Parts: sequence; structure tokens; C-alpha cells
Amino acid sequence: MKVASIVGARPQFIKAAPLDRELRELCQHVLIHTGQHYDYAMSAVFFEELKIPEPHYNLGVGSASHGKQTGEMLIRIEKTLMEEQPDCVVVYGDTNSTLAGALAAVKQHFPVAHVEAGLRSFNRSMPEEINRVLADHVASLLYCPTETASSNLAREGIAGGVFNFGDVMYDAVLRSTEVVDSTSRILASLDLAPRSYLLATIHRPANTDNEQNLCGILGALASTNEVVVFPAHPRATKAMERLGLDLPPNVRLLEPVSYLDMLALEKNARLILTDSGGVQKEAYFFGVPCVTLREETEWVETTECGWNLLVGASEPRIAEAIRQFQPQGERPQVFGDGKASRRIALHLQSVFES
Ligand code: UD1
Ligand code: UDP
Repeated sequence: MKVASIVGARPQFIKAAPLDRELRELCQHVLIHTGQHYDYAMSAVFFEELKIPEPHYNLGVGSASHGKQTGEMLIRIEKTLMEEQPDCVVVYGDTNSTLAGALAAVKQHFPVAHVEAGLRSFNRSMPEEINRVLADHVASLLYCPTETASSNLAREGIAGGVFNFGDVMYDAVLRSTEVVDSTSRILASLDLAPRSYLLATIHRPANTDNEQNLCGILGALASTNEVVVFPAHPRATKAMERLGLDLPPNVRLLEPVSYLDMLALEKNARLILTDSGGVQKEAYFFGVPCVTLREETEWVETTECGWNLLVGASEPRIAEAIRQFQPQGERPQVFGDGKASRRIALHLQSVFES
């Protein structure tokens, strides 16, 4: 069996890492990096730290408008798949690399497997929502991380090929959690004690590219007297530069950090503020309260049990959440048992080697 995985953006390297390890034991696994993310801190550092082999291809697509970026990916992925002739093409999550990979594959009759299928925000102004819906509708194998995700697919009439094996990002966290404490030096280097700071990330266009929302979020971070550690996605840094926004000294602006440093920062934060999908889940895994800077989330399990609070981008709502939000209830284990990637790899083998 030969499986080709298409990755391109930061969270996809993290999602692909545990599956790559399983697949390499069972078959030939060809890694195709679209080049959507390309800075060392957004790409290569994850390959090094998570011991993912060098991708077989880096298609070097880089940044552009949605149409140009997705179109270039489509052209280059198609050519690569035609050369490689895999039995199956795996796509991850909901980025433009996911959509281009799924479309290039299905049009050339390569079966598509979607890892993290079935998530919905029900907000079609998010580019990710379009990418997920389309990828799910052309995939023949849909690996859902949660029961909610498989019910979402059922509502859209997708019944065959749907499997809930758990969440590969939970696998990734479990595999790294022990080495985090022995490897990451980030708390010491920032002179931070556990639970003495807030951790913030933003990168959704609705927050970074909308001046009112960006100012609302940064205003709330500036108004607290707590230390806020803010590893900024390049989209956020560029937006702040464009608007000439400065941050007060309590906000510690960092370049994007590595995965192990990020897990260390998450695990030890008093509270996390984010618009990231992955970071919301990791907060939940670690039992750290999460304030989500959006009006809706795909990860509804985290809000339903009270550990994740949706506040949007309004300064007073965020400031109040920083002061008041203290979840206490149970955190049900809804993301599987840490063996999702093993199950996916074995399932692919059962389908494509029989
Ligand atoms: C992309 C995904 C988003 C995902 C996020 C993870 C789409 C539509 N969006 O958003 O779903 O949550 O990745 O981080 O696919 N840039 C750099 N260096 C890089 C990469 C990007 O400076 O290595 C800058 C460029 O100015 C670029 C901007 O960031 O224009 C946005 O990058 P892009 O890949 O288009 O989208 P993200 O916001 O990263
Ligand atoms: N992450 C990281 N360094 C950072 C910010 C995030 O390693 O500076 C990790 C984070 O721990 C999670 C993933 O990147 O595993 C989330 O990616 P991102 O927020 O870019 O995208 P999303 O999950 O929203 O698609």
C-alpha cells in the first residue's frame, strides 16, 4: 500500500505526525508539503521536533489570495499525485491545502481520506468552513474526531465511510506530554512561574483583519494587570504592523513558538485566550480554562461542559472573562483514548491491502 499525505499549514504537521509514525510501520508513506506555511517557526521546526521525516515534496506554493494559492496547489498536487500513483490520499483539517489536496485527488480518481472530518462552525464566512464541507463531500473515508462530527456528517447525508476513531491531536499531545517537562525551557527563559500568566493566540482573519475586532482583543489584553504571553501568528503580527498598534509591557509578544514550547506554555497558563481550533482542544486536554475569541466553535464539547467560554472580540466581554471565568466541572473524555492514529492506519491497511 502507498499512502500520500498532503500537509501545508502548522496544525497539519502536528496532526500528520502521529499518523505518519503509524503508517511508516505499515506501508510506504509519501509526504507532500504544499508550502502554504514556510517560515522556520511555522513549518520546519515541527518536522524537527516531532521527528517527521523531510517531506518527499515541497511544492513551494507560499502565500497568496485564496484563489491563487488554492489554484497553484491544485496544479502542483495533481502533477505529484500522477507521478506517485498512491492507493489513497490523506488530507487533514480545513485549510486551503486540505481543499486543494482533496480536489486534486478526487478528480484523478484517487480515494480521499479526510482526517478531522465532520467539524462544522455553521459559519460560512470562515474560509475553513468551506474547505471542510467540500473536503468531506469528496472524501470516501471520513475519520471523525468526535461523535458530534459524525452526527454533522449524517445531517448532510454522508453515511458511508464515516468512522469515529478519536482525535489525532489528542494522540499528539499524549505522545509529547512527558518530553515537554524535560525539554522545554520556555517558562524559565521568560521567567514565568506556573499559573502566573495568561496565554493568547489569534490568527483568524475575522479577528486579525478587522480593525475593530483586533483592537477589541488587544485592548482587553492590555487592560489586565496580569502578564499575557502572546506568541503571534504572522497574520497577527502583520496586521498590528499595518495599523501601527503597540502593546503595553504586560503583553509579552513572541515569535511563533515550537510545539513543545507551546504545550509547556498551555499546560502552565492560568487561562488561555485564543481563536485557534487546536489550542482550544489542548486547553481542554490540560484542564486549563479557555476563553475563545469567536462567537462559535466547532469543538462544542468543550463549551458544553463549561471549560471553554465563547466571548467573540468585544473588549468588555473578554476583560470580564479574564476576571471571572473559573470552570470547575468534569471534562468528559470525548476525544478518544490517544490511539486514533493507530486505528486510522490499520483501517487504511484493511481497505487498501485487501
Ligand atoms: C491558515 C489556514 C487556517 C489555519 C492556519 C493555521 C487557510 C485558508 N487558512 O491560516 O485555517 O487555522 O493556517 O495556522 O488555509 N505567513 C508568513 N509566514 C508563513 C506563513 C504565512 O508570514 O510561513 C503570513 C503571510 O503574510 C500570509 C499570512 O501569514 O499571507 C496568512 O497565511 P495563510 O497560509 O494564507 O493563512 P493563515 O492565516 O496562516
Ligand atoms: N502552536 C504552536 N506554536 C504557536 C502556536 C500554536 O506550536 O506559536 C500549535 C498549537 O499547540 C496547536 C496548533 O499549533 O497544536 C494550532 O495551530 P493554529 O492555531 O495555527 O491553527 P488551528 O488549530 O486554528 O487551525
